[in-house]
Amino acid sequence: MSTIVLKRTGQKMPAVGFGLWKVTKSTCADTVYKAIKAGYRLFDGAGDYGNEKEAGEGVRRALSEGIVKREDLFITSKLWNTFHAKEHVKKMAKFQLDLWGLDHFDLFLVHFPIALQYVEPKDKYPPEWWGLDGGVHLQNTPMQETWTCMEELVDEGVTKNIGISNCQGSIILDILRYARIEPQVLQVEIHPYLTQEPLQKLCKTLGIAVTAYSSFGPQSYIELGVNKNVVGLLQHDLVGSIAQTAGKTPAQVLLRWATQQGIAVIPKSNDETRIKQNLECDSFDLSEEDMKKISALNIGLRLNEPLDLDPRLGIFA
Ligand SMILES: NC(=O)c1ccc[n+]([C@@H]2O[C@H](COP(=O)([O-])OP(=O)(O)OC[C@H]3O[C@@H](n4cnc5c(N)ncnc54)[C@H](OP(=O)(O)O)[C@@H]3O)[C@@H](O)[C@H]2O)c1
Repeated sequence: MSTIVLKRTGQKMPAVGFGLWKVTKSTCADTVYKAIKAGYRLFDGAGDYGNEKEAGEGVRRALSEGIVKREDLFITSKLWNTFHAKEHVKKMAKFQLDLWGLDHFDLFLVHFPIALQYVEPKDKYPPEWWGLDGGVHLQNTPMQETWTCMEELVDEGVTKNIGISNCQGSIILDILRYARIEPQVLQVEIHPYLTQEPLQKLCKTLGIAVTAYSSFGPQSYIELGVNKNVVGLLQHDLVGSIAQTAGKTPAQVLLRWATQQGIAVIPKSNDETRIKQNLECDSFDLSEEDMKKISALNIGLRLNEPLDLDPRLGIFA
């Protein structure tokens, strides 16, 4: 399996992993267990996905049956927006680790560069974007405070690597001004409708590995009722014809388009056949011409846009 070497620790991050957002709670343990059996080694979780306990059950089942060893797995989780303050970062990372039933994460990311007011886990967990009164409440915690606590998670062995998600160039440069431990990974939305070349180039220059999420573009957002009135990438004629010529599926072409650029992918599926198919996306190459044609589909379409929830959350403005 192809991997991406992380600059600081030299740890190998699998280039194809499994995304846990919207993986149904009732089937999550079984899905994770079966995904490990199918060959997945990286799992991309988050406090916000509400299924860390179940994902951990699947992982521990595979470990106890000797299918994999802990060191063969790469477990990612993320700090939610309501826990950015110094008194909450460590507490929540350890709480999440307990949910997984593991003794360390391989990667822990700041989910968004957005700090929201604290919500007690006993009142609502995961808290999502809204306070208990249903409103979005920003909090004045600067990223430097959060990042310093993220570094302490590495010092204490809670996680081997730390990184960021949904960050653009200006906040990355800001973090680098004070970071004792630099972000190892940036996880962002990248697909042929949102190619983000300047951000990719910046990360390459800085030695920050990039993971693409929502590789199938609009497909993941249909179940959320978000319809941006575009042809789905999986249904796109260009992607379909390239897939047909290569003897692959449109999904495999979309994933390979990313991995061939040195970007990691974390497709999510609740379906056993598609889970296997997605993992097998790395065994062919797209021609340079096809890569360019797919990249030319870029229309700057951002699907995961906090601004749609509240105009004060314009991190990509
Ligand atoms: N950091 C962040 O803010 C952030 C945001 C979004 C996502 N993520 C991470 O990235 C992961 C992936 O992104 P995503 O969940 O948005 O979407 P995705 O993987 O791009 O797409 C998932 C959708 O595609 C379908 N699908 C999966 N494999 C397929 C295949 N081979 N053929 C046809 N359809 C297929 C799935 O349906 P079925 O389940 O029915 O197969 C689901 O509707 C997430 O699970 C999460 O871990 C992170």
